[in-house]
Order: sequence, then structure tokens, then C-alpha cells
Amino acid sequence: GKVRAPTHIISTISDDRGEEPCYAGVPMSSIVEQGYGVGDVISLLWFKRSLPRYCAHFIEICIMLCADHGPCVSGAHNTIVTARAGKDLVSSLVSGLLTIGPRFGGAIDDAARYFKDAYDRGLTPYEFVESMKKKGIRVPGIGHRIKRGDNRDKRVELLQRFARTHFPSVKYMEYAVEVETYTLSKANNLVLNVDGAIGSLFLDLLAGSGMFNKQEIDEIVEIGYLNGLFVLARSIGLIGHTFDQKRLKQPLYRHPWEDVLYTK
Ligand code: ACO
Ligand code: LMR
Repeated sequence: GKVRAPTHIISTISDDRGEEPCYAGVPMSSIVEQGYGVGDVISLLWFKRSLPRYCAHFIEICIMLCADHGPCVSGAHNTIVTARAGKDLVSSLVSGLLTIGPRFGGAIDDAARYFKDAYDRGLTPYEFVESMKKKGIRVPGIGHRIKRGDNRDKRVELLQRFARTHFPSVKYMEYAVEVETYTLSKANNLVLNVDGAIGSLFLDLLAGSGMFNKQEIDEIVEIGYLNGLFVLARSIGLIGHTFDQKRLKQPLYRHPWEDVLYTK
């Protein structure tokens, strides 16, 4: 028989050896001719399967909603400062991306982990939030710098509306909403934020689509796929901010002394 030398790399998501590239076994011609969208391509390359249309559409909505949130947020600020320092596109982009983390945009995976654990263990919102407080951990997916109970995040509302119409079940999202009701009773800034909405709704997508078994869902949540949605989405805006600064020929940024408290 054939003797095969051991390989140094294993890859399971795409194949470029044939006449055309394939994503999870689907040839590029089918992707183009059958009108696949970005959500379908993400389904193939991240989840290694075609997901039902409403799931791919939901992914696309997440990408569109998180593409940008103005020039003042952490990521855009870094990108703008870097572009104004004369750096290239990739440097400006990654400088912004590097701010994505537990406080900004990168709380989706932890929100999914904590909401799933709390819901699956049958904790009441009170028990969940107070147990987090005892551990000194802020609830991921809750809280926002400018959004308030009386000035909710429209993006959250749009995601919830889509899911209530198209998902077979929104039990994790409803749990997150109950958590929000409790946290809002403590402070007006403790709203369910866009990370928390995506984290809880993706649990509903994974559990309700019938496309994943329990072990696969646990693996997705444990590895942490979901921050990838924000990273991918916000790259669109950060690239836009880079072009904007270059177009405007903005000079080197220097923060004003008046805005710094110099103290000993
Ligand atoms: N859970 C519990 N208590 C909270 C939370 C939370 N998620 N967020 C704020 N608080 C409470 C705390 O008591 C906090 O006091 P502390 O500093 O002693 O912990 C108090 O509210 C005041 O918090 P601030 O620091 O003033 O809130 P800030 O506006 O700076 O924080 C932030 C906003 C960073 C989003 C915060 O709410 C947080 O850490 N949330 C969890 C992480 C998260 O979901 N991030 C994603 C935000 S959405 C996005 O970036 C796209
Ligand atoms: C964002 O999407 O960047 C925001 O929700 C964060 C912010 O501070 O507005």
C-alpha cells in the first residue's frame, strides 16, 4: 500500500488543493452561485456546517450591529491615534483590536459561559448575581458606560426582536433579561449590553437550531468562539476609522495637558 509521511499540520475547515477552494467541503462555485452570505461562510469556516438561514442571518445582524460604535470607544480611539501617528492600515487596525477584551467587546464568551452555567444549574437571577458579587466578579454582559435603564441599547432590542420572531426558543435570552431586571434594580447603568445579548442569544441559537449536540455546544462555549463575532465586526469599523483619518490628513495626536491630572 501507499506509505504516507506523517504530517506536521492537521486542518479540517478548508481545502485549496482542487480546482476551486472548498469551505467545509462546499466548493466556492456553490457558495457564489447559490447566493451564500457572510453568515453562511462563517457557519462553514467556524462551525464546519451549513446552518439554517435564520442562524446565518442572525450572525450577519451581529456583524452589522457591532461594526462600529463611533470614534469615542476604546478600539476606535486606539486606531485613530495610531493612524494619526502615520502608521499603516494593519498597525492601526490591530492597535484598535487589542483593546477588545473583558471590559470592551470581548465579554461575549464569558457572558455565554456564566449565563449558561447559572441557567443550567437553575440559579435565580438573585442567586446568580449575588454569587458573582461574593466572588468579586462583574457579571459579563451587564453594564455600559453610556447606556442606562431609561436609555437602552437599540442594538440589544433589535437582536432580541429578531430572535423572538425567528428562534424556536429564547430561554437563555429570557434568563439574561431577568438578570438585567435584577441588576437594574440595583443600579441604572447595569443594563444587558450588546455582548450579553449576543452571548445569551448564541446559546439559544446553538441549543435551538438542532445542529449541535450537547458536547459540541460545551466545546464551543469552552473554547470561546463568540468574541470572534465582535472582533470580526469591529474590524470593519476600525478599517473605516483608519481611512477616515488618512483622508482627513489628520496630524499626530497629542493629548492636551489640561485633560491630565498631574499629581504626586
Ligand atoms: N456586574 C456587577 N456590577 C457591575 C457591573 C457588572 N457587570 N458593571 C458595573 N458594576 C457596578 C460595580 O459595583 C461597579 O463598582 P466597582 O468598580 O466597585 O466594581 C459600579 O457598577 C460602577 O461601575 P463603573 O466602573 O462606573 O462602570 P463602568 O461604566 O466603568 O463600566 C463596564 C462599564 C466596563 C462595561 C462594566 O459594566 C463591566 O465591566 N461590565 C462587564 C463586562 C462587559 O460586559 N463588557 C462589555 C460592555 S459592551 C461593549 O463593550 C460592546
Ligand atoms: C461599543 O460597541 O463599542 C460600545 O458598546 C462600547 C461603548 O463604550 O459604547
